[in-house]
Amino acid sequence: MNSLQIEGRYPLKGKVVVSGCKNTALAVLPAVLLTKGTIILKNVPDIVDVQTMVALLRDVGVEVEYLDKHVVKFTIYDDVEWNIKSIKASSIRGSLFLLGPILARMGRIALPYPGGCNIGTRPIDLHEKGLRILGYDIETTSGYIYGRKTRDTKGDLIYFDFPSVGATENLLMAAALTTGYTVIENAAIDPQVVSLSAFLNRIGVKISGIGTRKLVIEGRQKPYEVGTVEWTIPGDYLEAGTFMLYAAGITGSKVHITPAYRGFLIPLIAKLEDMGINVVREDGGVTVYGNENLSPVRIKTLPFPGFPTDLQPIIGTLLTQANGESVVQELVHDRRLGYVNYLLRMGADITTLGQSTAIIRGKTPLFGTEVKAENLRAGAALILAGLLANGTTHVKDMYHVYRGYEDIVGKLQTLGAHVQVIVDES
Ligand code: EPZ
Repeated sequence: MNSLQIEGRYPLKGKVVVSGCKNTALAVLPAVLLTKGTIILKNVPDIVDVQTMVALLRDVGVEVEYLDKHVVKFTIYDDVEWNIKSIKASSIRGSLFLLGPILARMGRIALPYPGGCNIGTRPIDLHEKGLRILGYDIETTSGYIYGRKTRDTKGDLIYFDFPSVGATENLLMAAALTTGYTVIENAAIDPQVVSLSAFLNRIGVKISGIGTRKLVIEGRQKPYEVGTVEWTIPGDYLEAGTFMLYAAGITGSKVHITPAYRGFLIPLIAKLEDMGINVVREDGGVTVYGNENLSPVRIKTLPFPGFPTDLQPIIGTLLTQANGESVVQELVHDRRLGYVNYLLRMGADITTLGQSTAIIRGKTPLFGTEVKAENLRAGAALILAGLLANGTTHVKDMYHVYRGYEDIVGKLQTLGAHVQVIVDES
């Protein structure tokens, strides 16, 4: 295991180029299972969760070749394996996105129950509901999800009472290989859903309503013959947002983050400007200037285009440095305030109300100590805490962070952060 040692209070200066979007990659890679032919994906992030997904695709029979570090060639012709035995599938949430494409292509599936960040119960009832409406039999038992096509399988109307990102993605892919028209009402419209929809259109799936809460898919039984298709994964808006928040808290910081698509970052940019942070949009990215005179704000995480839950731990950490009382409400996941305990250990003044609300009082100096990344975004938040803190901070269990941020240590060092990796004997 390794940890990150951080000497705090050094301003960040320079430019960071964000990698391909993790959550888009974790949806687009399984989507190759809808095709026959060759797909070349560019700007694929070199992160652990993508490596796990590549291994799962190889396990089910997809030929995968790295043409370079970020360009990956997928070739698929014959049927794929539907009985997935690999325990790798239970290590990431993204393996759930194998459900829709394999079930629709092969007519059956046995998939280990997915894993992922420990940020709440993370049910899959909407995935199951949507597939049952299309006529698939779904049963979850003994740590597996079993699915089977029935004679009634056909396109139909699906309504999600919560705009689940994963359920929208799974049903988009299942509907693509299910004969007839499928309508998804109250679909998620997060950036990764819009990107997946664009990719599906590129391989020949007929989808209308992209970017809206109502998606219409004209499905068919046969896989999509693609010949050879090339497609580029957009930059990661959550990585961009993470570095924007890193730059914001220390006077003297000036960081240009690119690419940073305004459409994906509107909720964050609005909050940063409310806090008094200067965000300049230029050259396809943004430049963020550090400011130690921050105003408190209220944060409510909501499905896109509300404030993104995945940036909640990181802005919550920054708000310890605002002059006044901020309120953070986590309304998407039911247990995503675990990072607060470590901030308290560093000197923060925070009161939590139940599992979803934190009252954060500032401006409170933080002091370095040993903390632990318990999941991906909590780890990213504790890195910010170390950058803001007086003295030295050790963030243990950095493997959680490497799941979703490519070369985050190198990028921080390039910006002048005093960080280094320490190999833990334990
Ligand atoms: C995706 O997870 C992301 N992961 C998460 O990012 C992100 O936090 C989440 O969307 C919300 O934006 C990937 O894309 C790989 P959901 P997912 O289905 O698909 C309810 C990160 O840090 N729900 O929208 O699991 C439940 O309350 C990760 O990059 C149901 O009730 O998100 C859940 O908490 C963490 N039934 C909420 O929706 C269901 O069947 C959000 O889940 C599914 C979801």
